[in-house]
Amino acid sequence: MPWYPVCSSTEIAEGGFRTVTLLGKRIAVFLRRGEFYAISAMCRHQGADLTRGVRNGDVFTCPRHHWRHDLYTGECLSEPGLTLPRYALRIREGRIEVEVGGEYYD
Ligand code: FES
Repeated sequence: MPWYPVCSSTEIAEGGFRTVTLLGKRIAVFLRRGEFYAISAMCRHQGADLTRGVRNGDVFTCPRHHWRHDLYTGECLSEPGLTLPRYALRIREGRIEVEVGGEYYD
């Protein structure tokens, strides 16, 4: 699966995130407790960008119909069982890269 650059690892502050569109998928890269992770930012209802909604800690309320998703665990709090997929992530020469096409659930 191909790897795509997102940004420099210094561009995301602790607790913050960067959202990118790669191959039509909205993906959020977070830095949490010193570790980066990548997760789908697309609402499991109709695909709205969750990072454009209201944030309360790790929980984002969808801007379209207000479903709530935990963007750390991937759990949909409004419709249990609808989990957001994660993406493999690596850091090469200070750049964060995400593997698109290799979504997984944990
Ligand atoms: S698109 Fe997110 S709740 Fe409908």
